[in-house]
Amino acid sequence: MTIIEAKNYEDLSMKTAALIGAQILKRPNSVLGLATGSSPVGAYRELIKWNQNGSIDFSKVTTINLDEYVGLSTENPQSYHYFMHENLFNHVNIRKSAVHVPPGSDYDMQKACDDYEKLIEDVGGIDLQLLGIGLNGHIAFNEPDDHFPPKTHVVKLTESTIDANARFYNSRDEVPKSAITMGIGTIMKARSIILIASGANKIKILEEALSGPVTPQIPASVLQYHNDLTVIYCK
Ligand code: GLP
Repeated sequence: MTIIEAKNYEDLSMKTAALIGAQILKRPNSVLGLATGSSPVGAYRELIKWNQNGSIDFSKVTTINLDEYVGLSTENPQSYHYFMHENLFNHVNIRKSAVHVPPGSDYDMQKACDDYEKLIEDVGGIDLQLLGIGLNGHIAFNEPDDHFPPKTHVVKLTESTIDANARFYNSRDEVPKSAITMGIGTIMKARSIILIASGANKIKILEEALSGPVTPQIPASVLQYHNDLTVIYCK
């Protein structure tokens, strides 16, 4: 595990973008696992800049996002589909057919989950997975549980996650109560992982996850078992 303390959010964003950019330079047809939330926005901004000035080419890249709310259409501004297009995909030369976000409004959610697992296999697995961390230690939408979910599945969000995400909505009632998410097993299969955390309020959970016992009560703690993990954080 490599742990990097960034000077501030801008530095964290630059370092994260540098690692993602290096991955694309090394392997132009990389499969990137991407995350939503406020933490990766700055890194996406850097990548857009580097794409537009010709330093980084997304034309052969494939992306697989971690999660999506259940019940929101792709056009809903609160959906992760929308978020990813706004914050990255619409501004880089990625093929629209190479962009994948789990479907949040599929009639048969179990089939949607199975299809997503198959998709990840079909593209050859994820080369580099970017992750944020929730205040309760969740990664993607894998909430504290009594086991580590192996595969893409539908989850009921915890009250603490609904509270944390309410800032993006007019009212708490509007926050979806469930989501589709890659499982912990899906995430752990990525060949390399970058975990980013920004802000003093994330330090305690980060310490617990990285140096405490590995337990499904703190889903991110499983990352201690990954053999290519880079953690970048700032206070
Ligand atoms: C949401 C996402 C997670 C993300 C977390 C933290 O719950 N599903 O993937 O890591 O928020 O978000 P932020 O970076 O805004 O703190």
